[in-house]
Amino acid sequence: MDERVIDLQIDRPHSARMYDYYLGGRTNFTADREAVGKVMAVFPQALVAARANRDFVHRSARYLAEHGIRQFLDIGTGIPTSPNLHEVAQRVAPQARVVYVDNDPIVLTHAQALLKSSQEGRTAYVSADLRSPETILAAPELAETLDLDQPVGLSLNAVLHFVPDADGAHAIVERLKAALAPGSALVISHGTRDFAPAASDQTASVYRSAGTSAQARTRAEFARFFEGWQLVEPGIAVTHRWRPEETDHLSDISDAEASIYGAVAFKP
Ligand SMILES: C[S@@+](CC[C@H](N)C(=O)[O-])C[C@H]1O[C@@H](n2cnc3c(N)ncnc32)[C@H](O)[C@@H]1O
Repeated sequence: MDERVIDLQIDRPHSARMYDYYLGGRTNFTADREAVGKVMAVFPQALVAARANRDFVHRSARYLAEHGIRQFLDIGTGIPTSPNLHEVAQRVAPQARVVYVDNDPIVLTHAQALLKSSQEGRTAYVSADLRSPETILAAPELAETLDLDQPVGLSLNAVLHFVPDADGAHAIVERLKAALAPGSALVISHGTRDFAPAASDQTASVYRSAGTSAQARTRAEFARFFEGWQLVEPGIAVTHRWRPEETDHLSDISDAEASIYGAVAFKP
């Protein structure tokens, strides 16, 4: 665990804490809640979209565990919100190993909660930036926890829309994909402007004015992240339509309300 003094910068909004507030969590401050207020003014369905995304995170992790994935690399983890990815995966496969990665100092302060693994499994936390995939891949915690010669489930949920094209989002994902063994899986959820373009553009500008880069992507741009890998049914879908289950918090919401694509693919 990092023992340096951590500057949480609570006077400015952070995407992790805004997301925590959407989900009804308590790890957020006035600046985060004010920024969420601005998002809600232009995209009142933001809470619904966040909840539908979180349900997708759970269903996709369970799907991977049920289809033999025993190692997970989750980048853009967010503030711990139970159940976390390792809890979902370890319910299916207690021996599952999970490496979490996030660049937000507040997620680092909560990393202990992410490290409560089952006895048989293992979890680790890496404080790093998705825009530096080499740093993530070279992290000692990753090498100690995951065997990259065996399949890994890489998840990039609700994080790539904070990495604009100018930062090389597609090249970053290709670098991570190249490091993984055949049989590995890729899970992505990503904001889109395809269904509610005005609301999406205004939401992105609230994030940008709060100092967070944001870029929604079209279906085709989203699809490019999976190039060369085999999408599982139903392919690219708005989050709430990807293998919905009765236990989901939401049913019967519109694509415009969710406005986030989700998909899962395997490396041939
Ligand atoms: C909206 S939350 C998503 C949390 C979780 N993946 C989910 O979908 O439920 C986005 C997370 O990505 C993190 N994040 C944003 N940009 C990042 C970057 N460049 N590198 C690493 N993490 C990043 C934020 O700190 C935040 O915790």
